Amino acid sequence: MSAALLKVGAVLSTMIMVTNWMSQTLPGLVGLDPHIARPGTSEKIISQVSYPGEDEGWQVYGSVQGKCVCSIMTPAHSVCGGDPRHTRLQLISDQLLNVSQHMEILSQRTTQDLQRLRDSETLLQTLERRLNTAHEETHRLSSTSLQELRGSVSQCRPLRVLVGRLRVDVGQLETLKEEMEKLNESLSVLQQHFTLHHYQQLQQRQFILQRHLHSCSSQLGCGQLTGISAPLTIRSSGSRFGSWMMDSLVDSTDNRVWVMDGYFKGRRLVEYQSLGDFATGQNFIVHHLPHPWAGTGHVVYNGSLYYNKHHSNVVVRYDLASGGVLQQRPLAQAGFNNTFPYSWGGSSDIDLMADEMGLWAVYSSIGRGGNMLLSRLDPDSLEVLRSWDTGFSKRSAGESFLICGSLYVTNSHLAGAKVHFTFHTASASYEYTDIAFHNQYSHISMLDYNPRVRALYTWNNGHQVLYDITLLHFIRTRHANSTD
Ligand SMILES: *[C@@H]1O[C@H](CO)[C@@H](O)[C@H](O)[C@H]1NC(C)=O
Ligand SMILES: *[C@@H]1O[C@H](CO)[C@@H](O)[C@H](O)[C@H]1NC(C)=O
Ligand SMILES: *[C@@H]1O[C@H](CO)[C@@H](O)[C@H](O)[C@H]1NC(C)=O
Ligand SMILES: *[C@@H]1O[C@H](CO)[C@@H](O)[C@H](O)[C@H]1NC(C)=O
Repeated sequence: MSAALLKVGAVLSTMIMVTNWMSQTLPGLVGLDPHIARPGTSEKIISQVSYPGEDEGWQVYGSVQGKCVCSIMTPAHSVCGGDPRHTRLQLISDQLLNVSQHMEILSQRTTQDLQRLRDSETLLQTLERRLNTAHEETHRLSSTSLQELRGSVSQCRPLRVLVGRLRVDVGQLETLKEEMEKLNESLSVLQQHFTLHHYQQLQQRQFILQRHLHSCSSQLGCGQLTGISAPLTIRSSGSRFGSWMMDSLVDSTDNRVWVMDGYFKGRRLVEYQSLGDFATGQNFIVHHLPHPWAGTGHVVYNGSLYYNKHHSNVVVRYDLASGGVLQQRPLAQAGFNNTFPYSWGGSSDIDLMADEMGLWAVYSSIGRGGNMLLSRLDPDSLEVLRSWDTGFSKRSAGESFLICGSLYVTNSHLAGAKVHFTFHTASASYEYTDIAFHNQYSHISMLDYNPRVRALYTWNNGHQVLYDITLLHFIRTRHANSTD
């Protein structure tokens, strides 16, 4: 144990990524407007630690090793626009503008008046000087004219008072203007908190955070299944039994959908360009496989289709790009030909699957008394790298899928099915679980986890259905008081 205090935190991640991803092509199906990202719904990781955001209306929860920011809630735009504070601020700023316009007019008028008064003042001074001169040379003036001059000067005298007062007024007006500018400045700062501009900044930051969140959660990768969402039917097509999938390599960008209808001796592999095309049944290409298949346990992984060859325990690796068989190898001891199928039968003896860790096969053998065996396969050579005996009877299992090296087994293919048993390869241990899900069409003949999309793909009685999942992550985070 290291000296640093470590805390184990539990983080729940609801992988609604699939919803987002599908919204690109199927907004109608998932009820999403593809142009509006719904705040906080693209991915959620909730930890027990919460870090309130610095901005009002922001809440940021969670941390992974002190770095992973996980859930963001921003106010919706309508909330922002309808904020009563916003309306009041708008009113105040209107009034400010109104007052400032009046002040401007007043200020102009006062300045003009002042100029006129200044002119008068000069006149007055001239008059006064002349009066003084006249006073010194009284002999050149008649007493009447002198009297008149004195009279007009005394009449002009109140002008001086007016000039003085106006000067003060103008000074005050200037101060008022300065005050107004300051007010306007702080008002602008306040307003920015509520304007569209600010909201867009929030959205931009949310976008960046969500991107970080995506990369963070892809680094998280592994978690334990705790919940399965309501089913989302993508299409109703084909027979009662079949298989449909997308490339499950985690960093693949291939969005093609592959469909293999039926479980018995099929050779027809249908390729759709996208999930949207699959949902509408258009833009497809049909490939004919060189060997017929058995069961529905096929998987598309890193550009290859892996499937069980009919009437054998041979696993075939078929290259989707060239249409050639790259490898085939028997899965030693594996039962086939409906010897150890899942509860629904259909030659589902060998179930191939992929998770975050690679390619796997689930099967059984007479030597192991019908127990489900789990083997990790080399995707190139198809050699078994390592095997585990889960101890669970294969014929009692409805289906099984792997997430992060843990095998989840359902107890039935019929209505009421639930994830009943889990085998962890990391610890070679098992546990009984009780994870319910809605088996909408009551007959599941294929159930696989796609680690790239983080969703469950099922073929349910001629319907192609997706389930979103919730994973529990156990994360070691440094304690807040750590002095390391
Ligand atoms: C602006 O001033 C005028 C007249 O002083 C007034 O009628 C009007 O209501 C004012 N507007 C605002 C927004 O205060
Ligand atoms: C307030 O400031 C803004 C710029 O921030 C300016 O456009 C506006 O004219 C100013 N209003 C007043 C009344 O000074
Ligand atoms: C996927 O295939 C490419 C070549 O086609 C190969 O280089 C790569 O190692 C493969 N990835 C995995 C995880 O098998
Ligand atoms: C597979 O089973 C069928 C009958 O269901 C049988 O005819 C066939 O010989 C079996 N094949 C092998 C290789 O066991």
